[in-house]
Amino acid sequence: MHLFDVYPLQNIAIERARGAWVWDVSGKKYLDMYGGHAVISIGHSHPHYVKRLTAQLKKIGFYSNSVHIPIQEELAQKLGEVSGKADYQLFLCNSGAEANENALKLASFATGRKKVVAFSGAFHGRTSLAVAATDNPKIVAPVNETDHIIRLPFNDPEALRKCFQEQGPTIAAVITEGIQGVGGIQVATNAFLQEIRALCDQHGALFIADGVQCGYGRSGHFFSHDISGVQADIYSVAKGMGNGFPVAGILIAPHLKPWHSMLGTTFGGNPLACAAALAVLEVIDNENLMSNVAEVSKYLFDELEAFSRISEIRGKGLMIGLDLPAELSALRPRLLSEHGVFTGEAKPNVIRLLPSLALTRQEAGVFLKKFAKAYKSVVGK
Ligand SMILES: Cc1ncc(COP(=O)(O)O)c(C=O)c1O
Repeated sequence: MHLFDVYPLQNIAIERARGAWVWDVSGKKYLDMYGGHAVISIGHSHPHYVKRLTAQLKKIGFYSNSVHIPIQEELAQKLGEVSGKADYQLFLCNSGAEANENALKLASFATGRKKVVAFSGAFHGRTSLAVAATDNPKIVAPVNETDHIIRLPFNDPEALRKCFQEQGPTIAAVITEGIQGVGGIQVATNAFLQEIRALCDQHGALFIADGVQCGYGRSGHFFSHDISGVQADIYSVAKGMGNGFPVAGILIAPHLKPWHSMLGTTFGGNPLACAAALAVLEVIDNENLMSNVAEVSKYLFDELEAFSRISEIRGKGLMIGLDLPAELSALRPRLLSEHGVFTGEAKPNVIRLLPSLALTRQEAGVFLKKFAKAYKSVVGK
């Protein structure tokens, strides 16, 4: 058997990692400013994470949701505390798409309605309704096509108002990222998020905050959506939640009531996943990683301003997009091949920086030096 070839791969095989650094099979060291799609939140192989997961595995790795799993309660408690959502309820699952799928399903159950408002540039995952809400026809299979999705322009409160005026009673939910990731690091304005909240309240729809990429402390706040001063009814979380262990969930406002078998999953919330998620929250909390994000972010934003050929620098915290003109398109590949720096990309020409929340100022400085060299070699040519 061989692998189903769906990923365009860099010709690099990673063998080990620690903190902000990874090493390939030949021993070459790379600075990880990407965290494997924003997943590495507390740094690779953090000692507390390794210890907690190892200890859990020695006790029990898995049991299903047919018995009490006390570590799930412990996780819900800690997540409530660190996220500031102590009165919300937690449903655990395994991936970002699954979290959004459940959020949308829950909104439909709760309202009895079918329509979902989603925005241009959105990415919500690859499962049935999550992919339909995603703004990329190339990954929507014919079976996923649905007229339940209403697509509106991002950051356009007026278009949203008009849509609710016309179709309000049919709308179950509005789903949006607080900062679009795959869409090129586009920040939702406070006015836009406040308008979503107001219109949802007015028309009995639910506000779903997709925090899969922009959440979990990445913006310097636990949820970037909350910077606007309004709360969502459901927050989806994944990526940074497990620092690489597949674990995800939705945080559900107290007014939404469950019933048995409403949602479910085999693997979601297993003891090992909960141990990983708890280790992450403990490190975020004990090491003040959200303050670190704010500090290192300011340093990066300030220093990156000096590179005058960057068209625009967007984002918040350690979710930074460098929008480049076409003539600088060699910058990202060169950062990797010549300077050993992993970054992400977004179309058409955006470098995405999504390092661990534990990135130090010193490591950020190393990045800036390498970036300056790559920039000079591309600009100077
Ligand atoms: C904002 C957002 N939502 C959902 C997802 C889907 O998450 P997963 O790949 O874990 O299903 C992603 C993945 O990139 C994402 O960026």
